[in-house]
Amino acid sequence: MAKKVAWLLLLLISVCVPGLQAWALKLPFHPRDVLPLLPRQVSWPILNRLHSAVDILPVFVGAASSPDEFLEWKGACFYKNKAWMVFHNKSGTQFGGGTLHIKVSNAHSWTCMDLYIFATPYRVTWDYYFLAREHTLDIKAWEGKAEYEYVKNHGLSIFLLQAGMLGTLEALWEVFPLFTNTGWGENSNINFLEKHMGASFGVRPQPWVTNISTDDIHSGDFLAVSKIRGRWGAFETLEKWVSGAYAGHTAVCLRDSNGKLWVGESGHENEAGEDIIAVMPWEEWWNFELNKDDSNPHIALLPLHPDVRARFNETAAWEYAVSMIGKPYGYHNMIFSWIDTLTGNYPPPLDANVVACVMTIWSQIQPDYAANMWNEALNKRLGTKGLDLPEVLVEVEKRGSSFDELLTIPEQDDWVYSDGKSASCIAFILEMYKEAGLFDPIASSVQVTEFTIKDAYILNFFENNSSRLPKWCNDGDTVKLPYCQIKGKYRLELPGYNTMPPYSHMNERCPSLPPKYSRPNGC
Ligand SMILES: *[C@@H]1O[C@H](CO)[C@@H](O)[C@H](O)[C@H]1NC(C)=O
Ligand SMILES: *[C@@H]1O[C@H](CO)[C@@H](O)[C@H](O)[C@H]1NC(C)=O
Ligand SMILES: *[C@@H]1O[C@H](CO)[C@@H](O)[C@H](O)[C@H]1NC(C)=O
Ligand SMILES: *[C@@H]1O[C@H](CO)[C@@H](O)[C@H](O)[C@H]1NC(C)=O
Ligand SMILES: *[C@@H]1O[C@H](CO)[C@@H](O)[C@H](O)[C@H]1NC(C)=O
Repeated sequence: MAKKVAWLLLLLISVCVPGLQAWALKLPFHPRDVLPLLPRQVSWPILNRLHSAVDILPVFVGAASSPDEFLEWKGACFYKNKAWMVFHNKSGTQFGGGTLHIKVSNAHSWTCMDLYIFATPYRVTWDYYFLAREHTLDIKAWEGKAEYEYVKNHGLSIFLLQAGMLGTLEALWEVFPLFTNTGWGENSNINFLEKHMGASFGVRPQPWVTNISTDDIHSGDFLAVSKIRGRWGAFETLEKWVSGAYAGHTAVCLRDSNGKLWVGESGHENEAGEDIIAVMPWEEWWNFELNKDDSNPHIALLPLHPDVRARFNETAAWEYAVSMIGKPYGYHNMIFSWIDTLTGNYPPPLDANVVACVMTIWSQIQPDYAANMWNEALNKRLGTKGLDLPEVLVEVEKRGSSFDELLTIPEQDDWVYSDGKSASCIAFILEMYKEAGLFDPIASSVQVTEFTIKDAYILNFFENNSSRLPKWCNDGDTVKLPYCQIKGKYRLELPGYNTMPPYSHMNERCPSLPPKYSRPNGC
């Protein structure tokens, strides 16, 4: 589950839109001043010619955390700016909210504007200013104790953006009706997936939870999970949209030598709130999904084909699983499984520039957690060490390449990061499959970190004879899926399921564009 990727994208797009107005501007303009008003397709090329890639990155100007300390900086348009933060409790909620005051003055020209992104680890909003006066940004209520304390201690981060990014921000806003009402509701997720991916959500007859007999579950059986409610639901929705997968998370079953059934999962949240790799008894996992997961998870069991199961080396699988327990979720490489091509992976208006912006903002507001999240992976691609993002961009340009191209370089499964090998939810399972022999004899030329969740479930590893599925499989449903949905009100579709034989260098050059996500042969 590349949920952190989606989290990042979400950070950038879950913006509370200020009252956008049509500005009738009169000449004369500086080209940079007009850029925001041009359609994005036009403004990016111009912007890219006016500036080097580094200039496009948002600039961190500071963080406001108190009414008594003024943050002061020079903007691109307004040369004198000041900000301070006032906490309030207008909402009467446990932690109250806050108002950011920003006073802008000394514009270098009367047609210019400054565009800002405001971020905490829990929200991102943006606004732009044409007028020299005091502006406010009101946050009715903090998300909870964590956000309240973050802002008290670290402040609300303020980033100055190239004015040309405005078109991108507005376009992003239009593409994400999901977030317009900050409704994290199930229906907005469903509507979004129906509209932008062409997914259908057929309602299944009861029971929505299958009475499973675990005797029928075996080592290597795959669990596809799709969350559709709440914040995780929204993150997964985004991830599905950019990758074309119809499931947003995965786990895998393993039996030990005593026959006890376990579930291996990368992205399991431990007590400290960190996402790690864990192996837990089936009962614990299933109980969590049934009773404690508030994202309304829809779950399907994808049993391995008997021939494939016969080749599954349980000993090797356990050795791998045990070697990964407690390691962090695969932050380093997850984004690279999605971006393989220069133009075929970004649904508009996302592009490599947006990715660079998100990376910049993220490293500023979560430095401890994420400073290395991208940088290490980017350095590995360049064959360099310790360069930060702006330095990476400079290096890339020096070599006559581009950031877009850098992002498309395939991840190598044997890359080891400072905190160990990195495995997203799906890389963890496929790496286990690889260790267990399922990719033999081409295992050495398959980079499983390049696989999305969809790339995994379309592999032809699974049961294809419906009469061999467990008796309880799709119990009560009128539509007989070729796998076993074991939880969920809506039918979990997996288009392309069980159709693709593995081949060398699979998924290293695949586009992924909605709504069809066409996949050329041999990409
Ligand atoms: C805000 O008001 C509510 C209701 O009066 C109160 O319970 C809460 O403690 C207040 N929070 C803060 C941070 O003052
Ligand atoms: C579940 O199935 C078992 C046998 O497979 C049966 O004994 C049990 O009563 C069933 N439980 C429910 C709630 O239907
Ligand atoms: C299974 O894996 C173990 C550990 O890697 C290895 O020792 C064993 O030979 C493998 N078994 C087969 C049948 O390949
Ligand atoms: C199922 O898969 C096996 C092995 O991959 C193949 O030989 C067989 O023809 C398939 N059967 C059906 C019904 O597709
Ligand atoms: C499917 O499995 C059943 C039961 O094992 C078997 O009788 C049947 O021949 C299989 N069908 C195919 C097409 O392999």
